[in-house]
Amino acid sequence: MGKPHPRSAVVVGVGPVHGLGAGLAGYFARQGLTVFAVGRTPDRLRATVSSLDAGPGTILPLFGDATSETDIRYLFQQVAERTEPELVVYNVDRNERAPLLDTGLELFEDLWRQNCLGGFLVAREAIRHFLPRQRGTLIVTGATASLRARPPFTAFAAAKAGLRALAQGLAREYGPQGIHVVHAVIDGVIDGDRARAQFPDFVAAKGPEGLLDPVAIAGTYWALHQQPRSAWTHELDLRPCLESF
Ligand SMILES: NC(=O)c1ccc[n+]([C@@H]2O[C@H](COP(=O)([O-])OP(=O)(O)OC[C@H]3O[C@@H](n4cnc5c(N)ncnc54)[C@H](OP(=O)(O)O)[C@@H]3O)[C@@H](O)[C@H]2O)c1
Repeated sequence: MGKPHPRSAVVVGVGPVHGLGAGLAGYFARQGLTVFAVGRTPDRLRATVSSLDAGPGTILPLFGDATSETDIRYLFQQVAERTEPELVVYNVDRNERAPLLDTGLELFEDLWRQNCLGGFLVAREAIRHFLPRQRGTLIVTGATASLRARPPFTAFAAAKAGLRALAQGLAREYGPQGIHVVHAVIDGVIDGDRARAQFPDFVAAKGPEGLLDPVAIAGTYWALHQQPRSAWTHELDLRPCLESF
C-alpha cells in the first residue's frame, strides 16, 4: 500500500460488495480520495474492500460500531492521523418488520440506535474534524420511511425521521461555518445483496430500471460534495424511473 492521499472520505456502513456502502467507497476512491470503509464484520469488510476497483485512490477497512461513542471517537482519530477527512457518509443499514404489538422495547431501541443515535455520534465527530478548516460534507442516507411511516416498518420510520431531523438541524447550525449537511431520501429498493437475498422474486420482477443502482447513487453523492457554496442542496430524493410516488 502506498502513502494514503491526504484528502479522505469516510463511509460508515459498508457491508457486502453489492450494496450502497461499497458503491460509495469505490466511487469516492475512483475520484482519487483515500476512503475509510467502516463496518462491524472484519472478514466481509476485508473481502468487500479488496474486490472494489479503487482507481487512483485507496480504500482502507476500519472496524467499528457506529453506535459506540468510543469506537467512533477512535475511528476519527485514526482517520485524522493519516488524512484530512472532507466527506463523511452515514450509511448504516438496519431494518426489520415490526408490527406494534410484536415490537419489544429492545427492537425499537435497537432500530433507533442504528438508524439515529449512530448518525448523531458520527455527525458530531465528523463536524468536530471539519470545523478547523471550515469545510466538509456530511451526507446521511435516508429512505422512503424518513418521510412516510407505514406499518410494519413504523419503528424504522421513527428512527429514520429522527435521523432526518438531526441532519436538518445540523445543516442550519453548521452551514454558516462552511459545513455542508445533506439528507438523501432513497425512495425505492437498492439493487444490492440485501434485496436480492430477502426478495429475489421482487428484484427479478422489477428489473434493472426498477431498482436503484448503488454506483448511480454514489455519483449523485459525489456531485453533492462538489457543489459550490453558493448553491447547496440540503435534501434530495432519488428513485428509479419506474418507481411510482
Ligand atoms: N437496501 C435498500 O433497498 C434501501 C432502500 C432505501 C434506503 N436504504 C438505505 O440505504 C443505506 C444502505 O443500505 P444497503 O441495504 O445498501 O446496505 P449496505 O450499504 O450494503 O450495508 C450497510 C452496512 O452497514 C453496516 N452496519 C450496520 N450497522 C452498523 C453499525 N452499527 N456500525 C457500523 N456499520 C454498521 C452493515 O454491515 P455490518 O453488519 O458488517 O456492520 C451493513 O452491511 C441504509 O441507510 C438504508 O437504510 C436502503
